Amino acid sequence: MARILITSAIPYINGIKHLGNLVGSQLPADLFARYMRGRGHEVMFICATDEHGTPAELAAAKAGKPVAEYCAEMHDVQAEIARGFRLSFDHFGRSSSQRNHTLTQHFAGALDKAGLIAEVSEKQVFSIDDNRFLPDRYITGTCPNCGNTSARGDQCEECTKQLDPTDLINPRSSISGSTNLEVRETKHLYLRQRSLRDKLEAWIDSKKDWPILTTSIAKKWLNDGDGLQDRGITRDLHWGIPVKKGDQPWPGMEGKVFYVWFDAPIEYIAGTAEWADANGLGDEAWQRWWRTDKGASDVTYYQFMGKDNVPFHTLSFPATILGSAEPWKLVDYLKSFNYLNYDGGQFSTSQGRGVFMDQALSILPADYWRWWLLSHAPESADSEFTWENFQASVNKDLADVLGNLVSRVTKFATAKFGNTVPAEGEFGPQETALIADLGARIKDYAALMEAMEVRKAAAELRAIWVIGNEYLQSAAPWTVVKTDPERAQAMVRLALNLIRIYAILSRPFIPDAAATMMAAMGSDDWTWPEDISAAMRALPAGQPFAVPENLFRKITDEERADWQTRFAGVRT
Ligand code: 2FM
Ligand code: ZN
Repeated sequence: MARILITSAIPYINGIKHLGNLVGSQLPADLFARYMRGRGHEVMFICATDEHGTPAELAAAKAGKPVAEYCAEMHDVQAEIARGFRLSFDHFGRSSSQRNHTLTQHFAGALDKAGLIAEVSEKQVFSIDDNRFLPDRYITGTCPNCGNTSARGDQCEECTKQLDPTDLINPRSSISGSTNLEVRETKHLYLRQRSLRDKLEAWIDSKKDWPILTTSIAKKWLNDGDGLQDRGITRDLHWGIPVKKGDQPWPGMEGKVFYVWFDAPIEYIAGTAEWADANGLGDEAWQRWWRTDKGASDVTYYQFMGKDNVPFHTLSFPATILGSAEPWKLVDYLKSFNYLNYDGGQFSTSQGRGVFMDQALSILPADYWRWWLLSHAPESADSEFTWENFQASVNKDLADVLGNLVSRVTKFATAKFGNTVPAEGEFGPQETALIADLGARIKDYAALMEAMEVRKAAAELRAIWVIGNEYLQSAAPWTVVKTDPERAQAMVRLALNLIRIYAILSRPFIPDAAATMMAAMGSDDWTWPEDISAAMRALPAGQPFAVPENLFRKITDEERADWQTRFAGVRT
């Protein structure tokens, strides 16, 4: 039994995520966690909400709530939706937790002790009416290059020119519109990542099995332009983790907080500590996942994220860990995803374009979405959600192939032999051939799941469903029963066992349907069918089974058209 630590990128607190966010991190992480648990491994699967930063503050202000209250509420909303999608986190934490405060301050102190923190004085725009420093992108003005009157302080989106806020003509606060701005001197902490460059490069080079998408992004940031830049890890904001050296004050840094991207990945560790706290366990319980001096050297750590998060996880967070010179666990495998597009454009949170997680669950159960999203995961390239494709995939794969097999077999068996597994007859050459084929395919499927080849694994699972249908089609127990009822009983017995095996194999993808299938077979034995021949005989003759409710319903053309229009516009 292996010990497997899994983290998904932690979603920002402001707003509900869209399906593109889901398929890029939480959902494939859940698939992997479920698979690994199903294989009997000890799994720790952590996610959380990412609660700091200016967007969270502004969203709270817009909602007319104190930011702490807003975050607490939105955390519960996101947790509820995650349950709706059956995301099987061991803990869904909060980056604003006390645990994260303590750990983030601890890391900053350790980095300082290692001589890796520089204090830098810089000039920044202060909005007198807003009573706050403004991050570059919250300053709006006229672009000196093209005259666009709503250029941002970091970049003009019209002409793409990179800007400094002081370049803008007639600058104003994007928060209040106030032009009552001044440039003030302020001090910040920088993590001296440059001096860790060689260490980071050697570490990345040692990861021979990482996906190209992951290493190419990491390498680009290591080598582009001047190479790895030192990074500001503090901000002049009110909401966040106060800057301290461990539990000691940091002279000159009073009233400042750590940058959201400094504390967010530390929440993976803090979230595990929150898990221990929530379960009444001591520090050793979470440290055995994270401290190589306390048992974590036999842990394999997997991270899941969209490609935009890769630089932070291949460079910044490892710089924090390596720089601390303490024995913390580094990621072993980093699975990253491209983007999912929506019906000819992009999913967009800011523009409210696409289907959001709560909306998805309001029209169909989680399994439908899980199956489509995972079987179309944007792995080697961006992929696209279209309603036609979604309808086709649900109707064919789930309803026609899997659902139909389950209902056909259970209904036929019940009608002919009653509600128990029939006892008569022996498996013949057809069954032996199916068992052999299945055995080989399950091995392929397992290898793909272990390699986190999500799309290929889904295709293999579907192929496994298909061969069951093909077997039934050619064995035709409904014909055989007329002349040789004992043979027909053997076929039905095999088919009922097949349903139980399909439940086990399909559980990581479609956990609710899998539970229904397993319960219908009157079993709760989820042991992986390592010995396929034995697994095909697992349900004892005479065991009661039931005809489950229709596993999957088809999406009609009217529904598809309706949803297409309903979700074409902009969510407000
Ligand atoms: O892109 C995002 O949604 C970020 N909130 C991800 C943070 S992942 C990590 F650093 F914790
Ligand atoms: Zn411009």
